[in-house]
This record gives sequence, C-alpha cells and structure tokens, in this order.
Amino acid sequence: MLFAVPASASGLLPAPAVEQPRSGEFQLTGRTAIVVPAGDAQALSSARYLADLLARSRGLKLKVVEGAAPANAPAIELRRGSPGGEAYVLDASPSGLTIQSDGDAGLFYGAVSVWQLATAAPGKGPAAIPAVHVEDAPRFAWRGVLLDSARNFRSPAFVEAFIDRMARAKLNVLQWHLVDDQGWRLEIKKYPRLTEVGALRVPAGPAAAADLDPATHQPRRVGGFYTQDQVREIVAYAAARHVTIVPEIEMPGHATAAIAAYPQFGAGPERPQGPSSDWGVHTSLYNVDDATFGFLEDVLTEVMDLFPSRYIHVGGDEAAKASWKADPAVQARMRALWIGDEDALQGWFIGRIEQFLKAHGRKLVGWDEILQGGVSPGATVMSWRGLDGALVAAKLNHDAIVAAAPVYYFDNRQAGDPDQPPGRGKVVTLRDVYAYDPLPPGLTALEQRHVLGVQGQVWSEHIRTDERLWTMAFPRTLAIAETGWSPAGRKDWSGFVARAKLQSARDRALGEPSGPVEIPGLVFPADERVRTSQQLNLCSAKIALNLEDDAPVRGPRARFLVDITNPCWIWPRADLAGVTAIEASVGQLPFNFQLGADRDKIRLRPPVTPSGELEVRDGCTGPLLASLPLAAALASQGVTTLHAPLAAATPGRHDLCFTFTQKTLDPLWVLDRVRLEASPRGH
Ligand code: ACM
Repeated sequence: MLFAVPASASGLLPAPAVEQPRSGEFQLTGRTAIVVPAGDAQALSSARYLADLLARSRGLKLKVVEGAAPANAPAIELRRGSPGGEAYVLDASPSGLTIQSDGDAGLFYGAVSVWQLATAAPGKGPAAIPAVHVEDAPRFAWRGVLLDSARNFRSPAFVEAFIDRMARAKLNVLQWHLVDDQGWRLEIKKYPRLTEVGALRVPAGPAAAADLDPATHQPRRVGGFYTQDQVREIVAYAAARHVTIVPEIEMPGHATAAIAAYPQFGAGPERPQGPSSDWGVHTSLYNVDDATFGFLEDVLTEVMDLFPSRYIHVGGDEAAKASWKADPAVQARMRALWIGDEDALQGWFIGRIEQFLKAHGRKLVGWDEILQGGVSPGATVMSWRGLDGALVAAKLNHDAIVAAAPVYYFDNRQAGDPDQPPGRGKVVTLRDVYAYDPLPPGLTALEQRHVLGVQGQVWSEHIRTDERLWTMAFPRTLAIAETGWSPAGRKDWSGFVARAKLQSARDRALGEPSGPVEIPGLVFPADERVRTSQQLNLCSAKIALNLEDDAPVRGPRARFLVDITNPCWIWPRADLAGVTAIEASVGQLPFNFQLGADRDKIRLRPPVTPSGELEVRDGCTGPLLASLPLAAALASQGVTTLHAPLAAATPGRHDLCFTFTQKTLDPLWVLDRVRLEASPRGH
C-alpha cells in the first residue's frame, strides 16, 4: 500500500474495529436531543453521561428524552439491538446519529465515541460531525490501569477524575493498590488499627524529621485512607462508567503497614514500628498461624462487601522469605504440612486464600510469583516480570494479564530531558508502550485466549503530586487503551500520535491537566560546558532512579538521575580545551531503599577526608583530575555548589567520570549538575 490509511480519520481513540466514512454531516447543536428507550435505566445513564461530557466540553446543554425522538431536529438515539456486551454500532448521518447495542457497556462506549466525534475539532458550541459508520468491539476483555494509592495517597476526588479519564478511553479495570509496606489505605471496621497505625508515615530523611507538627511537636506525618463510605461512592462512580475496581490486598509480603498495626500476624523475630518510609523489597511477612488467616479472611470479607468485582487481587509479589526462615512457628507448620520449602509454603498460603475467595464466588488474581511453589488451580496470573508469567500461565491453562515491566510501568521516565518528573530512571516512551506486543510468542491460538488483556501500572513511590501522576500516566495510558481495544492490525503509530494529541486537548477542554504527547528525547543545554545528571551517562543502571531531593519540605526540589547501587556518572568525550576548573552541584538523599543482600554488594570508594569527596577522573579507572571535598556540602539539606581546579589533562576529549567516596551508604550523595570552567574562580 502506498498511502497508510489512518486507523481513525474521525479521531476516535482507541481506534474502532471498523470505521467507514459516509457523505454529509450530522449537525450537533444545542437543540439536538439524546433519545433513549423508555424505562431503560442503563441507556439513560449513558445518555446523561454523554450530555454531561458535551456540556463540559462544548457548553452545549442537550436534553435527554425517553421514548420517541422529537420531530424538530435530528437526534442522537441510543437503541437496543445487536451487537451485545461491550460492542456497539454507530451511524452518523445528516438525518441522525444512532448508537446500537444490546450491552449496557456497548451503549456506554458508543456514547464515549459520540463525545469524541463531537470534540474532534476544538472549540465550544455546535459541532459538525462528518457522517461515519462504526462497528466496534474490544480486542481484550481486561483493559486495566493500576493506581498505587499506597505509596502516595490520592484523594477520592483524584481517584474519581482518574476513573473518568480511563472511561473516556474505554479502559475498564482499575486495579486499586490499597495496601503496601508504606501505607494501609482502606478502612476495615473490624481492625481499626490498620488505618490508625498504617495510614500515616513520616517521610524519609532529615528534612521531614525536622518538620514538626505544631500540634504534637512530633514530625509531621503524611498519608490518609479511604472510609468505607468513600469507597462505596468511588465504586459506584466507576460502575456508572463501566469501570470495575479490582482491589489489591497484598500478602504474604508488602505487609509492613499491616504488621506494624497488628504485630501478632507477623513472622520472624522483628516487628516494624510503623509503616515504612523506605522503598524496595521489605522483609515483613505475615505468619502462617490460623489466627492470621482468620484476620486476612475478615479483611477480605469486608473487601468483598465493598467491591463487587469478580476478581480480588492478593499481590503475592516480592515476598522475601527471610522472616519465614527465621520463625520457628512458621518452620514447624511447614514441616507439619509436609511442605518442602518456603516457596511451596507461599503456594500453600495463596492456595488457601484462593479457596476462601472461591467459596465466596470470587476469583483470585496475583502477581506472577504465584506461579512459584505450585499455582492455585483457579488463579489468574498478572505477568509483571516481562511476558514469562503470561506464557507459563497460559501453557498451564491459567488466565493471564500482561502488566509487563518495564514497558507497562509508568513510573519510568518518558524521556531523558531534565524536566521529566521523578520516577524510575529507565526511559519508556509513548512509542515503546504503543509498539509493545502483549501476546507472548509461542502460544497457540487456544492458549492466546488465556491472555485476558493488558494493564499499565502507575506505581507511585516517586510520584508525590497529582500533577506529576497525570503526566506519568497520560498519554502512555492511551497506548494501553488502544492496545487493549483496537484490533492488532489497526494500530497505526502516526495516526495514534495525532489522536492522542486530540484526546489531550479534550482533557484540557474539560479543565484537566494533560501531559505532552511529543516529548523531546534528550535536551542538552545551550552552554556546551554544562550537564545535569540526566544529561550525563550513568556508569551502570542496576537500579537507576530519577530521584527528587528530600528537601526542602515545601517548595521546589532538585532531581537527580542516579544508580543507587553505584552513584557514578560519565560525561562522554568532554572537551577539556582551556578548562582549568570544575564546578559541581551535589545533593544528599536519605538511603531509604530496602535491597536485601544487594545492599551488601554496593562498593563505596574509601574517602580521603572524613566527609568524603566527589572525585573526577579521566575514565572511571583513570587518573584523578579533581577532588571536591564534601565537608562544605554536609550542612545543607539542599544542593551545594562546589569548585575545584582541574588537573591539567591531555588536550582533547575525555570521558570524565564522577564518583563519590564515602564510608556509609547514608546519605546517598548525588550529582545535580557539572560545569567546566575555562578560567579558575575561587569562593
Ligand atoms: C511488582 O512490581 N512488584 C508487581
């Protein structure tokens, strides 16, 4: 084919299965009525949703009419008739616009499409919608997003705005990450300490420790939780938009906040004092006493009462087994059950919970670690460590959802430019997400049917503010929406970019923030002699993070790109001609990362002065060109600018290597910015 046909000329996102232009236009005006069958509550709800969107987007106040269409102007009509489920047929012509579906969701998605057609051109007031015939149905049943309310709490209003934006892209599952080591966010009536103890924490680092609450004279705590009334309202709000909320209650690990509240349910010799302000893989695990299963079942009973979802997510990921190994009661139970090792014990643990959920008519879904130690027969596997979990699960006749890191992890940066919000250091562009094929290679057609769908993850360790969450989640979530909905053969990158811009404009017209669709990859400063950490190369990228400074507590903070296991940066082929000194801005961060045994593998260069120094070398193993003592930066919690003369290097270009020497991992020294100086300057 010489010319690519855009997947949706009329601007629909996700691209519909079939879209055929027709001649003429449907004139949408303030006199257009939206007509629904009499007594059809679901059709009425979708019609009102459409009327509300059009009022907010274009300022048009459309009447919703039950029964017969008024005769005075062409109408938008929601009709019953095939297809069913989430599928719908849409026809726009000069004489009227109809949406037809036997499914409630189908009518809703037809309504969303009408809103998109009416907002394909910007502006307020009437819209001329080019005539079109659309036949549409989703590729996958599960089109999800994970929202992490545990690491950083989000208000109920934000959660609802997020759900609404999902619905406007025909996404239908919100996996709500409600509990983790850092916070327990769900009111449980039978166990009030879960939120009394587990919902608030003091952020890591000296700045937060010094930020005293005047009422208590204790460090100010951050967090929050959702009351059951708030949850019921959010669940109903989502249901009205055909979004199912799948609650995630983590076990046996990611349980620090819960065990801090109820230490009797924890394993091993140690107990956390409160929810953690560290990131990473923690050691707190539930024990395997019957009383602990009683607690978990009580919690799940309240969870099932709040969330009608068929699926309940129980986590299962990253359960480091040290505390089980160190706990005599856990070991005794393992032997009594003739279970050979801790992985198999986790299999037994998840299996027991699965039976409980099944007895209550629910299905268990868990991260792909539930495949270890014998997967429970009815479990659905969420594949996060690439596609392997989905591949293995489908081969074993289990359903799977593709939530693959790193490409579907939207806490990764979208570009290398220094203005990107904090997050994980790997760059995952919109195009990376869009291009990713979610079907593991090597599955038969029958096995492929076990892949229920796709999910984008908005983990929030490094996403403190709502504004940043919007830009990390969108537009990449739109690529999930199109991957999940549109037939694989209809995907079209350049058309998608145009339509994602359109969708962002629609979000702005609704008064919501939106992230840029086209982000410059790596922007260098106009001054050739300056680089920020993001504009340098990392020497390694084992755990690369784009971290925000912990200070100041209020106001703008610096951001540093760093491999926390090896704080080392390279300025490749730096031009040292005429350079006689170096200026380096450095910051210090709390080392609040739980890395297990990996922590002991971190090698620090020994310091020369007591507080250590920033060393600049000609190549990482080459001669020392400059040494900048850190003593001058110790007292500051923010960024400090240091200077030092640069030893005469051979002329030409050099790979400048920047490393810190220090005795302890905490604080983590980080480079903010370096400048090569052509003439020496003193303090
Ligand atoms: C995960 O990222 N631990 C599911």
